Amino acid sequence: MSNILTIKEELFIGSGGHQSTYIHPIDRTKCIKIPHSPDDGDVRKEMRYRKLCARKLAKSRLVTEYFGTVETNLGLGYIFERVLDYDGNTSKDLKDFLPKVAPDTQTLQRIWTILLNFKSDFLHENIAIVDTDITNFMVQEPAKGSYRVRIVDNIGTPVLIPLVYMFDFAAAWKAKRYWNKIVDWLAINYPEVIPPELVAQLKEK
Ligand SMILES: Nc1ncnc2c1ncn2[C@@H]1O[C@H](COP(=O)(O)OP(=O)(O)O)[C@@H](O)[C@H]1O
Ligand SMILES: [Mg+2]
Repeated sequence: MSNILTIKEELFIGSGGHQSTYIHPIDRTKCIKIPHSPDDGDVRKEMRYRKLCARKLAKSRLVTEYFGTVETNLGLGYIFERVLDYDGNTSKDLKDFLPKVAPDTQTLQRIWTILLNFKSDFLHENIAIVDTDITNFMVQEPAKGSYRVRIVDNIGTPVLIPLVYMFDFAAAWKAKRYWNKIVDWLAINYPEVIPPELVAQLKEK
């Protein structure tokens, strides 16, 4: 009997520039990521960050849990918590979640609350992220009508001497910079949903 886990194409969730994500064939609360290249720099960066900041990430509300590697028919896979809604479906990423045109007041209010809570979690946990790609943030609905943002990718830092791994003040400084970059990006790309009055609340001085 072989120990290689078989992943069928129907379990495919999504893919970005670096890896393809599948539902775990045996445990639907987990997903498996297969890097497009076995020596992907971004995957290495994330694994280094997860190792060095294991204690901090174990307590994180934002970052998905990591469960180690597994041999699969598609190559070496990395097992993570799958971001799921209360109905068992994979959550939407922030790009699919945000409407491009102004929604009704109730929906708008919900989006504003989700983003303000994301701000509070992000600046509390000071997670190091590499860019402002909002497909790496998923909006989870763990119970009907209750939402939280989760970070599934692009964590770590490219710098050689990773001060942000070692010192809280450096992590806080960097997180604040990146947070404000995310807000600027959202304000430019979703002006109907994120108007100046919300930008003022989201930005951190
Ligand atoms: N933990 C997760 N739970 C559910 N879906 C996920 C998870 N991680 C990633 N995905 C989905 O898979 C896509 C690709 O995964 P990602 O880690 O972002 O790969 P890449 O490094 O190539 O961008 C994501 O955009 C998201 O839609
Ligand atoms: Mg991604």
